[in-house]
Amino acid sequence: MKLRVLFTPNNLEELYFTNRTSVVIDVLRATTTIVTALKNGAREVIPVATVDFAMKVSGNNFGGMNLLGGERNTKMIEGFNLGNSPLEYKEEIVNGKTVILYTTNGTRAIVKAKFSENLFICCFNNLTAVASHLVTLNKDVEIICSGTNGFFSMEDVVCAGKLIAEMMKAMPDIQLYDSAKASLTISKSFGKSILKLLRETEHGKLLLENGFEDDLKYCSKLSNIDTIPYFVSGSIKKLDVTGSGNLFK
Ligand code: MLT
Repeated sequence: MKLRVLFTPNNLEELYFTNRTSVVIDVLRATTTIVTALKNGAREVIPVATVDFAMKVSGNNFGGMNLLGGERNTKMIEGFNLGNSPLEYKEEIVNGKTVILYTTNGTRAIVKAKFSENLFICCFNNLTAVASHLVTLNKDVEIICSGTNGFFSMEDVVCAGKLIAEMMKAMPDIQLYDSAKASLTISKSFGKSILKLLRETEHGKLLLENGFEDDLKYCSKLSNIDTIPYFVSGSIKKLDVTGSGNLFK
């Protein structure tokens, strides 16, 4: 198995991902929000790359079964039901609902990788669950850091490095491209406190300025959720890894 980390998806064409196994990371906060929404019973999350498309997909709201969520500059978009704070995606709000999600970088990275043969969503919260599933799958993996407007985001790269370290516990002979080696080295250079790291990142500082301190605490939790979101045909659902024969839970 070979692992590569993409520090941003922006310089690649959609077709690059065809037939590949990919994992998208946007720790702050899109992929943490998706993991949370599905863990709390959302039927599916539909990631979209533009606000206009979000409006179109949500249509007439289908009798309250659709929720429109997302952000611009970290804040809820006018006319949307929810922002992009994972703390908003509580069971009583999302259970049984379809969430249409637009975010500046995270959902766009997912849409970019839509032609992948397998496409998973990862954050610190579900890191161990994703790592063990990737080890079982035993395919080469492209780990896509959503980054920020085409630039490197430290929190995504540290999460990628920790994902690689977790996979290597079960499979020490995994081959690493340079970008994967660099991510591993960077993640090891940080201490144990993910929260401290998040507080010092560019996007973490912006979220703190905008009053999202509790989001940073939530996003910093490591492997406390076992939900593995899986993208198929335009929609992200909870993967069933119990061996029941069903793709989704
Ligand atoms: C993004 O996709 O850029 C982020 O999730 C932004 C955020 O809401 O913090």
